[in-house]
Amino acid sequence: MRDAIMTSLEENRRFFPPENPQANIASMEQYRELCRQFEQDREGTWRKLALTHLAWQEPFTRVLNRDKAPFFTWFEDGRLNVSVNCLDRHIEAGLGERTAIIWEGEPGDVRRISYRELHEQVCRAAGAMRELGIEAGDRVVIYMPMIPEAAIAMLACTRIGAVHSVVFGAFSAQALRERIADAGAKLVVTADGGWRRGSVHALKPHVDEALEGLEGHTVKHVLVVRRGGNEIGWRPGRDIEWDEALAVAPSRCDPVVVSAEHPLFILYTSGSTGKPKGILHASGGYLLWARLTMLWTFDFQPASDVFWCTADIGWITGHTYAIYGPLACGGTTLMYEGVPTQPDPGRLWSICERHGVTIFYTAPTAIRALIKAGDEWPARYDLSALRLLGTVGEPINPEAWMWYHRVIGGGRCPIVDTWWQTETGGHMIAPLPFATPTKPGSACLPLPGIEVDIVDHDGLTILEGGGMLVIREPWPSMLRGIWGDPSRYVETYWSKFDGRFYFAGDGARRDEDGYFWIMGRIDDVLNVSGHRLGTMEIESALVAHERVAEAAVVGRPDPIKGEAICAFVVLRQGEGDEALKQELRAHVARIIGPIAKPDDIRFAEALPKTRSGKIMRRLLRDIAAGRNIAQDMSTLEDKEVIRRLMEG
Ligand code: WT7
Repeated sequence: MRDAIMTSLEENRRFFPPENPQANIASMEQYRELCRQFEQDREGTWRKLALTHLAWQEPFTRVLNRDKAPFFTWFEDGRLNVSVNCLDRHIEAGLGERTAIIWEGEPGDVRRISYRELHEQVCRAAGAMRELGIEAGDRVVIYMPMIPEAAIAMLACTRIGAVHSVVFGAFSAQALRERIADAGAKLVVTADGGWRRGSVHALKPHVDEALEGLEGHTVKHVLVVRRGGNEIGWRPGRDIEWDEALAVAPSRCDPVVVSAEHPLFILYTSGSTGKPKGILHASGGYLLWARLTMLWTFDFQPASDVFWCTADIGWITGHTYAIYGPLACGGTTLMYEGVPTQPDPGRLWSICERHGVTIFYTAPTAIRALIKAGDEWPARYDLSALRLLGTVGEPINPEAWMWYHRVIGGGRCPIVDTWWQTETGGHMIAPLPFATPTKPGSACLPLPGIEVDIVDHDGLTILEGGGMLVIREPWPSMLRGIWGDPSRYVETYWSKFDGRFYFAGDGARRDEDGYFWIMGRIDDVLNVSGHRLGTMEIESALVAHERVAEAAVVGRPDPIKGEAICAFVVLRQGEGDEALKQELRAHVARIIGPIAKPDDIRFAEALPKTRSGKIMRRLLRDIAAGRNIAQDMSTLEDKEVIRRLMEG
């Protein structure tokens, strides 16, 4: 699938950045100068940036506290409020009438919300939450379509110091239940339903189902936005109408000033066990990096740019670059409710044209799907307002990069390939659009202040070549832990190299120019369409089916999704057939959500195991991908099993 990779800078001259003296970082000299400042005085540089870029109620004295490493804290004695940083300070600066959010619903309805209006809505929502008993530190689960109220609910939480946990709207009732329980949420904010693929996708019924099956839960209220108009059940006393609650709430709400270390949100992501991890982010450090990377990686110009990050707020990309980054800068962010192909594959470009989008940020999987849809779709629209393109979530194949550059960017827009994770809060490795010479398929260089490295199993630096991606120094927007499971945090990210550095879970290569090429996960985590899914999660969903005795899930390369899900299933008895495959796919969708549905299901009499009983995942990956099996079979328990698997 990958083109021959052109690694030398010389060969890539045609992708060098256009000159732009007005850019926030306009040259490699400026980039190097910033890196030098960090080298000479790391904490002093962070201090200066944090003081200039955030509005503090009480400034901090201490930058980084390493006493409880790897539980690092940043700006811990500083006090601020995130919503004040995203709203009030811009209004005070006279920007109240600037558009904060441009929103388009899937059916075509459009809303433009100014900073002044957003502020009022956030205050009312915060007041309504307070009325429902929500206090600083309480957890609020947000299970919403991509509508402005989702952003309002997030910001309302920050207004009163509540901790939000957004659960992707396409996750099942059971996945939602698990997250509500783990977070110990007091309130769920949801909508009746939202528009997807031409019809209304129900949400509130999933909340009802999640809570019904949850013994002794902590949820006191469910706040419901009317969007889909679909019929929903109503539990008087527990369920509250969003509109009614906001109508009676005051239009002002004093912000609760919190420590910079106060938890801002929990976001669940898949790991290599069956249980999702609640990644915890803190207020000050996260917001600082959301703003800085907006300005650096996206060269965001708040007065003139219209920024569109296509990610749903159910993912970290949606948190940082659809909401917090643009709003912390006082700029305009675009939100779209529906799918890219509704009513036709020109929808994204039609939105770009009509709203004058200048910066567009999406995932390689979407780019590949749009390539497949045909160049005639973007050709119908005027995309000349675009000045910068971004990609995230998985390695982008150079072919897709080149298409994006040529067809969408008209050959004039720089492309930023941004490597980061839910855990990192914001970009870590990315080119600076008007400074860094790019190479298609490479995320290029670490951002200033970020000490990324590639090491071998002993933790020794690999200057040129492949190894494990690590981050050597703490950074402000790093995760603060895993909610309710501090030892898993230490184990997952810090134990591999005895606490010396953060282990990202990715493999990567560094070339002769010091450029980073991300190769993908090296743990049991799949990357399907830029979404992370644990193989164990899918396996436990499969074995929860009455007919399944054992299951192993692996990824195989897929031209559009990057990775497809392939499940090997051993039945308790009887033969598997097409009907059972469909049933198992539906079963996984019910337990986790449609994104986790296996693409292939292969029935097997047994799974290939080593003598010590370990499933041979590498072998299964080879079989799934249709590769020749080179592995030495002498260590295997049963060679016959493999022969059959390959035939099946
Ligand atoms: C994993 C993180 C935060 C972005 C959305 C996904 C992969 C992310 C890139 C990139 C190659 C990438 C990595 C990473 N990844 N960006 N530019 N090139 N791979 O967030 O769900 O936390 O997943 O996505 O494997 O570890 P996530």
